[in-house]
Formats: sequence, C-alpha cells, structure tokens
Amino acid sequence: MARNLLLSPMLKWVGGKRQLLADIVPMIDDKCSTYVEPFIGGGAVLFNIQPKKAIINDYNTELINVYKTVRDNLDGLLDELRVHAEKNSSDYYYEVRALDRDAKFNKMSDVEKAARIIYLNKTCYNGLYRVNSAGQFNSPYGRYKNPNIVNEAVLRVISNYFNDNEVRILSGDYKEALKNLDENSFVYLDPPYMPISASSSFTGYTEGGFGYKRQVELKEECDMLSKQGIRFVQSNSDCEEIRELYKDYKIKTVKAKRSINSVAKKRGEINEVLIYNE
Ligand SMILES: C[S@@+](CC[C@H](N)C(=O)[O-])C[C@H]1O[C@@H](n2cnc3c(N)ncnc32)[C@H](O)[C@@H]1O
Repeated sequence: MARNLLLSPMLKWVGGKRQLLADIVPMIDDKCSTYVEPFIGGGAVLFNIQPKKAIINDYNTELINVYKTVRDNLDGLLDELRVHAEKNSSDYYYEVRALDRDAKFNKMSDVEKAARIIYLNKTCYNGLYRVNSAGQFNSPYGRYKNPNIVNEAVLRVISNYFNDNEVRILSGDYKEALKNLDENSFVYLDPPYMPISASSSFTGYTEGGFGYKRQVELKEECDMLSKQGIRFVQSNSDCEEIRELYKDYKIKTVKAKRSINSVAKKRGEINEVLIYNE
C-alpha cells in the first residue's frame, strides 16, 4: 500500500527528527518483522515509514495518553479541541496550563488530558513540551495568530494508522520495550542526547536527566541487541563521550539544524551521529 503523505507528527517535540528523515529512513530495514521505537516523542520516523507492525514507547505518560486517545476516542478528542480553539487566549492558556498544579488534575479524563496537551503544544511559545522539575508544564504563551489547534486531517490519519495496523503503544522505560524482540525486529533509538556542554544540559522531556550513566546503560542495551542479531540505528550528539562509547560500532555523521535553543545566535547547523550495528 502506498505511504500516506499526510501521516506526520501531530505534536512538535524537542529533538523532532523531521529534518533528518532523509538520513535516517534509508538506514531502516523495511523488511523487518517489527519496527521498534522506544523513545517515540513526536514520532517523525514512525509516521514517515508507516510500518504495519510496530512497538512504540515513551516515558512521558502524557504523550502516550495523547496517542492512545487519538487511537481510541478521536471524536471525543476533536470535540474537546474545538472547545479549546474557541476559548483560546492568553488568559485561557494560563488557566489550562495551571491544571496540572491542581489536585483536580487526577480527576480529569484521559480525553481531557490529551486535549490539554495538544492545545498547549499548539499555542505555547516555540510549540515545545517543557516541564519544570516538578513535572509541571511551564512554557509561556506563544501568541500565534492562527494556531492549528484542531488539526482534524492529521489526527484522523494517525488514528486510522494506529487502528488499521498492529501498533503496540507502551509507556515506560525504554528497556521494557526492548525485551523479548524477535531477531528480525529493527530498532530506532532516539534518546535524550548526551549533553555536549554544561550549558546544554537541558532535558525538558520528563523529570530526571539522561546523563552519562544512562548513556552507558543504553550502550549496554545496544550490545544486547547486537548479541541477539537485532539491528538498530541510534541518534545521538556528536561528542567525545559518545564516539568513545560506541567505538566498536559504525558511526555516520549528519548535520542537523538546532532549533531548541532560544538564543538566536546559537541556532545553526551542528553535527549529530547515527550509530548502527551492521
Ligand atoms: C529526542 S526525543 C525523541 C524525538 C522523536 N524522535 C521525534 O521525532 O519527535 C526523546 C524522547 O525520549 C523520552 N524519554 C526520556 N527518557 C526516557 C526513558 N528512560 N525511557 C523511554 N523514553 C524516554 C522523552 O520523553 C522524549 O520523548
């Protein structure tokens, strides 16, 4: 079946891989039995390759709830989003943002929580999901003229993709998603990157960072995949620690435009690496 060109990320996510698709996608075996993406984020690679059988995972439960809601209750979600779109304003944004600081948050339904994340993602500054150390959403309002809060066409193709294919959606540590894979699986790993300097240790995805110790654990997981004959590709930052850790693997250098840095002069092209085992 032809690829659906409308299928693409519904959320803007830190580390989104849209701009690196031309480098990453040709490295993925399209004949694999199961495509596995344990750090799914916005899902740029998954939605581009559209595998029939996949396992996706992310530690961020709010994000995973969005995907499950799109799959299971699209109409309810669209209704909630229409309400947000109608009420959108700076004051309303801060009211909705503050809901996770309130005891009532736990009583919100999954569809309300999913709509909240999509609404905030579409209207917040830079369009990025960012939380503080207590796990509370803390991006300021973005003041866009026409934010696409109810992107029905894209939400619908994502919903259809999840429902028409065998896509398991997990929410936990990436290591769980790597258990019991068959050897014809293919794994694409896009972890929070090794910080390349003290000032870039931003890890705004979830509470807790992903520093050197976690990078070493990830390398050990890659060793285990290799031992089982499972192929993988991993994205990471181009730095000495990563090159040293993966010295027994193949490494391809690619250029990425960094856009998460709000200091304009620090934007620009930087090197990243694609590590692989074949
Ligand atoms: C670089 S982003 C992935 C970006 C994604 N490729 C895209 O195109 O949007 C890394 C993701 O890893 C998730 N993450 C962080 N620590 C994790 C862990 N221990 N297990 C699973 N996911 C984790 C974050 O929530 C984040 O969504």
